[in-house]
Amino acid sequence: MCGITGYIGFRKAKPVLLQALAKLEYRGYDSAGIAVLHEGMVQVRKMKGPLKALATRLATEPIEGAIGIGHTRWATHGEPSDVNSHPHTDVSGRIAVVHNGIIENYAALKAWLCDRGGIFISETDTEVVAHLINYYYQNVPQGPWEDRLLYAVRRALSRITGSYALAVISADVPDRLIAARKDSPLIVGLGEGEQFIASDVPALLAYTREVYFLEEGEVAVVYRDTVELFTEQGEPVDRTPTHIDWDLAAAEKGGYAHFMLKEIHDQPKAYTDTLRSRLVREGQDWAVKVEEIPLDHTWAAAPRIVLTACGTAWHAAMVGKYAFERFARIPVEVDIASEYRYRNPVFNPQDIFIVISQSGETADTLAAMRLAKKGGARIVAITNAVGSTLSREADQVMYTWAGPEIAVASTKAFTTQLMCLYLLALKLGTLRGCLRDANPYLQSLTEAADKTAVLLRRKEQIQRFAARQFNKNKVFFMGRQFDYAVSLEGALKLKEISYTHSEAFAAGELKHGPIALVDTHTLVVALATQGELFDKIASNIREVTARGAATAVITWEGEGEAAFHEVAQEVFTLPRIEDSLSPLLSVIPAQLFAYYCAVQRGNDPDKPRNLAKSVTVE
Ligand code: M6R
Repeated sequence: MCGITGYIGFRKAKPVLLQALAKLEYRGYDSAGIAVLHEGMVQVRKMKGPLKALATRLATEPIEGAIGIGHTRWATHGEPSDVNSHPHTDVSGRIAVVHNGIIENYAALKAWLCDRGGIFISETDTEVVAHLINYYYQNVPQGPWEDRLLYAVRRALSRITGSYALAVISADVPDRLIAARKDSPLIVGLGEGEQFIASDVPALLAYTREVYFLEEGEVAVVYRDTVELFTEQGEPVDRTPTHIDWDLAAAEKGGYAHFMLKEIHDQPKAYTDTLRSRLVREGQDWAVKVEEIPLDHTWAAAPRIVLTACGTAWHAAMVGKYAFERFARIPVEVDIASEYRYRNPVFNPQDIFIVISQSGETADTLAAMRLAKKGGARIVAITNAVGSTLSREADQVMYTWAGPEIAVASTKAFTTQLMCLYLLALKLGTLRGCLRDANPYLQSLTEAADKTAVLLRRKEQIQRFAARQFNKNKVFFMGRQFDYAVSLEGALKLKEISYTHSEAFAAGELKHGPIALVDTHTLVVALATQGELFDKIASNIREVTARGAATAVITWEGEGEAAFHEVAQEVFTLPRIEDSLSPLLSVIPAQLFAYYCAVQRGNDPDKPRNLAKSVTVE
């Protein structure tokens, strides 16, 4: 997730911008840059790598000036590189732009601008914004120069589809910054004789606690002594500033106690971002458009799908297996990457080989991919990390667009992997003629974000339950099919951050061994979202209750609640979506339970012992 900042005032802009960018580092980034106005020129310094490398360069190549913009980039379009770093300038070099978000129609805009003399030097979507602003700047019907920039920005924004938080400066109008937002956060910080722009509160706290949170579609014109706000339609906005009283540590986590809790709460937005431009309305119907992967007849004719991954990503692969089998009636093989790479697997070049990895750098996952590639397989990567090794070596890449995940325990990276797999499975089901009407499922996908938000508002129930159960010796998760895959993830989350001995098993396996472990020190969490299997799972819960276990169930509100309220001691309900899409919601209570147990035990959920975020060695 990129970070943007801006400054106008009486101080030197460079140190203010660098300090603000340092406070946005937690968002994750791969490159950084600033642009400062001085003596009628835009001066830009930007480069791949950490902020301190940029600061070192600025020590030898200083830039002066009291108005500027800055950026930390989390690559989306184009690999991390000096040239792809922000700020981006137009062809004249007199307008500079920093951007957080995704310009979905950038390819069409780029072609349009190239036809009108635009020359692009980066692979980014953002560069089109600088060129587009310049285009309208040069083609203003009439009016004073100082109004031109605002006109040009507003015209450019009207052409953009997608999400943005933007800051713009122009050498021609050195008394102002222009900022705008749509679906990406942006804050204006208010000072005395100076003003600030930032993606997030921590970047401003050293200078001010009075801020405007820009609303959707709003544009701000920021002068040294004042700020003007406008609606998307150009109407002036009168707003009272908000006073921020968070401390700095809380502010970096958006006010949450830990990154993990913040990332759990990021999931509604992450779902929306994953679906954006991939699930589109066509008349009365929904259509899946995953343009980065040619979902053509070769997919439809593939004899088999192979999914491989590690840890949480492997659990996503398990959900993928059930989804592809159910919707597309295609044989699916799932394997843990560390097993796959050493088991001399049988290849078929017609297979579709899907590799899932949040980081795109997991050693075993990369080894499995390289082995399959050598065997002639087509590799499709599902990853969150643009420019990662996996994304570079795969034949096709589907990005999850979850934004950076800081906590070691994966949450939003996992759920967005599920979203990608569901899109692919539903599309393949349609292509193969196995799914006559995908609309109810696709409609459910669009509802997942709002229903997750509803679920998150019920978190106190889980917090109270965790406060009672956190010191259990053993916690077992059980479920069938999709619920088994989520059980695996629930158990992994809990063991990773609370250090509780937790395991998952397919509920039908209970009598084949695990029940021997059940006693009065055991908590069993059952996942029950597959309506036709309610009776079976209810029997399993009764069996563990009879051996003294405490029990909880995660199930649908309504019929699930009715089926289990007398069976399990605690019932966590989920807003209703299609049974086969339940993992998108059912994992959320499991994530929250793990989080609250870890906190109860006094652990730092963001940095669990012995674990690393990216496992780049075997
Ligand atoms: O980056 P990857 O998705 O390839 O990572 C795979 C696993 O190492 C990862 O999912 C791990 O299990 C997490 N800590 C889970 O929370």
